[in-house]
Amino acid sequence: MAKPVSIRDVARRAGVSVGTVSNALNRPELVAPETLERVRSSIEALGFVRNGSARQLRAGQSRTVGLVVLDITNPFFTDVARGVEDAASDAGLSVILCNSDGDPDKEARYLDVLAEERVQGILIVPASADGGRRLQALRERGIAVVLLDRRATQASHCSVSVDDVAGGRLAVRHLLELGHRRIAFVGSGAVRQVKDRLRGATEAVVRAGCPRDQLIVVPVPALNVQGGRAAAAALAAIPASLRPTAAFCVNDLVALGLIQGATRLGLAVPGELSVVGYDDIDFAESAAVPLSSVRQPRQELGRAAAELLAEEVSGGPHEHRRVVLQPELVVRASTAPLLGAAPGDTAKRARHQSEPGATLEGASAPCA
Ligand code: RIB
Repeated sequence: MAKPVSIRDVARRAGVSVGTVSNALNRPELVAPETLERVRSSIEALGFVRNGSARQLRAGQSRTVGLVVLDITNPFFTDVARGVEDAASDAGLSVILCNSDGDPDKEARYLDVLAEERVQGILIVPASADGGRRLQALRERGIAVVLLDRRATQASHCSVSVDDVAGGRLAVRHLLELGHRRIAFVGSGAVRQVKDRLRGATEAVVRAGCPRDQLIVVPVPALNVQGGRAAAAALAAIPASLRPTAAFCVNDLVALGLIQGATRLGLAVPGELSVVGYDDIDFAESAAVPLSSVRQPRQELGRAAAELLAEEVSGGPHEHRRVVLQPELVVRASTAPLLGAAPGDTAKRARHQSEPGATLEGASAPCA
């Protein structure tokens, strides 16, 4: 196998020093145009490929950051990654995308890889609550860490998240205003986002004067379309007189799977089952039954986190901050008043509802 072309080979062929080739690669603004052209034609003629690891070793750190998400098949994370990449690119940083599948061991392996790659910083949606211990070790090695879609509990790092408790309240208050009283919370899992949505949903039920166990939790095997289909089978098996008439799903993929499964099992949406999702991914609006959903500002979430990280690694002035963005309810065809209920004053039910200060005004009577 031929010996790989080295930076010395390029310098010799171009008739310049190794330092000039290094500048041509890393700081071309320092090199005279005709010299730059000679170096570039030498690189092309020899097929030189720079050795990222070697360069990074010399420089101490790369101009790269890592992004670790829970599930790259979920459009929520694709949209967040878009925001991250836009902001990172604006700051001259490249992004290495890692998918943890919500598995703490896989997450740990990726964190080790990113450290070996000498990334300047890491944006992470933690798969586990105690990700903090591992993340603290990275900070002690000089790698900045920003929590994404998770509110930092210590002042030792930045975070950008969405108020998921408010989002859960928005979803269930909407269903209560439509007159629904038997409401399912469809979702499960250890991630903080799910727990906060359930907490908000429970608060909405209690605020409406209903007993907290009015909310029926329907666990799912996974937070995806298959999980939603499994939930549909569980709901369809409940006798109609006891079955929930509405469901708040922990994310849009589960909601779209629930609608698909319910329809196949002969449950009309929204006629027999109103469904609200969470994230408001692009598929929500274009679904067969356009999905009501709690919208998360996905690209804004990613951009804001990447901007905080870029500021921290720039070496300039930086104060750790915890940015919390607000969700909003987007009402579409998948939710409708309970048959025979006196729905809230629909005139007041704006298409988009936000949380602060909103009450159950115009809602039908509190729980009987
Ligand atoms: O990963 C599960 C969910 O958490 C995603 O759908 C998104 O809502 C995130 O916040």
